[in-house]
Amino acid sequence: MEENEERRGKGKGLSYCVTGATGFIGSWLVKSLLRRGYTVHATLRDPAKALHLIPLWSGGDRLRVFRANLQEEGSFDEAVKGCSGVFHVAASMEFEVPANEDIDSCARANFIEPAISGTLNLLKSCSKTESVKRVVFTSSISTLTAKDSSGNWRNVVDESCQTPVDHVWKTKASGWIYVLSKLLTEEAAFQFAKQSEVDLVSVITTTVAGSFLTETVPASVRVLLSPITGDPMFSSILSAVNSRMGSIALVHVEDICSAHMFLMEHARAEGRYICSACSCVMSELVNHLAKEYPFSNLQRCALVEEEHGSVPSEISSKKLRDLGFSFKYGLEDIMNHTVNSSIDCGFLYPNVKLD
Ligand SMILES: NC(=O)c1ccc[n+]([C@@H]2O[C@H](COP(=O)([O-])OP(=O)(O)OC[C@H]3O[C@@H](n4cnc5c(N)ncnc54)[C@H](OP(=O)(O)O)[C@@H]3O)[C@@H](O)[C@H]2O)c1
Repeated sequence: MEENEERRGKGKGLSYCVTGATGFIGSWLVKSLLRRGYTVHATLRDPAKALHLIPLWSGGDRLRVFRANLQEEGSFDEAVKGCSGVFHVAASMEFEVPANEDIDSCARANFIEPAISGTLNLLKSCSKTESVKRVVFTSSISTLTAKDSSGNWRNVVDESCQTPVDHVWKTKASGWIYVLSKLLTEEAAFQFAKQSEVDLVSVITTTVAGSFLTETVPASVRVLLSPITGDPMFSSILSAVNSRMGSIALVHVEDICSAHMFLMEHARAEGRYICSACSCVMSELVNHLAKEYPFSNLQRCALVEEEHGSVPSEISSKKLRDLGFSFKYGLEDIMNHTVNSSIDCGFLYPNVKLD
């Protein structure tokens, strides 16, 4: 019923392009747009990855799939043609630095510069295409920090609380290359947009979870579930987020897609918007996870020790809410959908026993 109503909705006749359509957020965004009646130009690097998604998207003749790579200049020219807007969701998530390399130069040459040039490639295609009225860029909460310049916790984190670039280079906390690539790419994107009069809006995305359409378990779901799985790499990312923000800010994948669409279409949208449905300190996160999926007390205690003890900063989506956006899903739904989806795909065992 809801789906049929959405299909008859306002999307009729409008086309949007989505980059990174094979990813966690991108695949949901394609589905959400098609549900609402839009025509979608979905871009992907590897058509094989779309095979299982195409039936899930069920887009019929409103779905067009394009092969495009951020690293190839002009690669997006065809895909953005005729679109009213472009959702730039794609970004590389691979940041392995080989041992014995000069780590700073390696990070710059292999990850940060390609991330920047990739986004500029896409924006160049958009600026050449008259039909494109707005680009919505998927930014990250990793571009923000809850600590002020003296290292004290802020009461409220808003869009102005940018992580200082030199601090990230210096401290190299877990996930630092990703942080730099998002920070510097977004900065370059806004600079380019200003010069070439592209209307660019960015969504500062917090940790996204919920159910997933991808065949593999999304990295952010693995991060959220790391207190259960004990995966050292994803646990260290969760800890790094917690120590930068004082809590973990979360958003359901369907809400992050709704926020992207909302910001694409709102006449007064401009600049950056934090999109966080809720945030919780590590003990709350662990308790909520344990309610959905009981797991070892030993792991739980180790994680909770990481809390800093004071009242955590509010990670504020006021700017987004003031524009009229409201979230559909809260913490319990996020946890429940994430755990169930992970059980369905075999990432978590259905039956667990407490120690
Ligand atoms: N999930 C979160 O919690 C979260 C939080 C904050 C921000 N974000 C941002 O949200 C966006 C999507 O994240 P996600 O969680 O959906 O990640 P994801 O599942 O890893 O998706 C990334 C997408 O980008 C594509 N991509 C990577 N390199 C590309 C290239 N050179 N050319 C074209 N496409 C390329 C990938 O294609 P392949 O499938 O071919 O690899 C994939 O479709 C990213 O910009 C990320 O920084 C995510």
